[in-house]
Amino acid sequence: MAVLVTGGAGYIGSHMVLELLDRGETVVVLDNLSTGVDWVVPEGVKLFVGETGNQSLVSAIIRAHDIRAIIHFAASIVVPDSVSDPLGYYLNNTVNSRALIEAAVKGGVRHMIFSSTAAVYGTPDRLPINEDDRMNPESPYGMSKLMTEVMLRHASEAHGLGHVILRYFNVAGADPRQRTGQSTPRATHLIKVAAEAATGRRAGMSVFGTDYPTPDGTGLRDYIHVSDLARAHSAALDHLRSGGANGTFNCGYGHGFSVFEVIGMVKKVSGVDFPVAIEGRRPGDPAGLVADNRRIRSVLDWRPAYDDLETIVSHALAWEKKLALRNR
Ligand code: UFG
Repeated sequence: MAVLVTGGAGYIGSHMVLELLDRGETVVVLDNLSTGVDWVVPEGVKLFVGETGNQSLVSAIIRAHDIRAIIHFAASIVVPDSVSDPLGYYLNNTVNSRALIEAAVKGGVRHMIFSSTAAVYGTPDRLPINEDDRMNPESPYGMSKLMTEVMLRHASEAHGLGHVILRYFNVAGADPRQRTGQSTPRATHLIKVAAEAATGRRAGMSVFGTDYPTPDGTGLRDYIHVSDLARAHSAALDHLRSGGANGTFNCGYGHGFSVFEVIGMVKKVSGVDFPVAIEGRRPGDPAGLVADNRRIRSVLDWRPAYDDLETIVSHALAWEKKLALRNR
């Protein structure tokens, strides 16, 4: 019996693989290596290189490894790219997920945990955002994830596939033991970009917008440590295995930091005063995104261990340094 992790060679997926191994689970990874890297997959974990939409491959993996649970991370995740390539995003995130869900149902998989996103809410009416608040994705990315949420719920009702949907806020940091981290080239996320600037991998960075209706005018986000996020999936798996109901949960800490605060922390922890340019707003960026996390705290056995910006930034920086040595 094993857990199948799609996207297990990627940033969040590779932390999930470690989390499962640490719990003594047997893990199998399916990843097309489009953004993932095979060297983060630990020895002893079987890696299949392929698409989640390849039903014959997925069905064969389910049979051969007695897969009872699938944790589905594999996806395209860059919001502006989804605007320029909507059909590519709907193919990879929605059509391929449909195929995966169907293969799971046919193969008798009992549980699925799906990576969704705060992008399903679009620009929220109020903060913090509750799971029952209005959903209004403002990008093909957000809509591609919302469509998969809907398919999964309906497939669950019809076929009894137990599921948990986790809506991630801003995921950052790296494994505290530095076994994996964010390794994707050309990453666009704030803490990763700032860590690259601090370690000299880029000359400087930009702040996109200083005229938001926030205390210092820059975007406010709820940054969650990637290892706490992986633990949320473990808690979801335990919940489903013990007969818990299907559910949808925000994953965030419930408080936000501004872009200036994040950059200030990266400068403080690294001791490097890298150049920062002020630019206009990035299209599609909401002013603030902060999770109401009361539901996950009350329903799942989940308590954050790294709810501290300095810790998140320290782990991200340590990984960036390790990566720089590796890529030399
Ligand atoms: N930012 C900068 N400079 C940068 C990068 C980001 O100023 O170089 C700012 C952004 O404008 C934003 C904040 O930092 O205010 C966070 O931006 P990220 O790109 O790190 O993350 P997003 O909030 O845009 O994206 C996250 C998830 C997406 C999800 C989205 C929902 O990573 O998967 O939230 O809006 F879709």
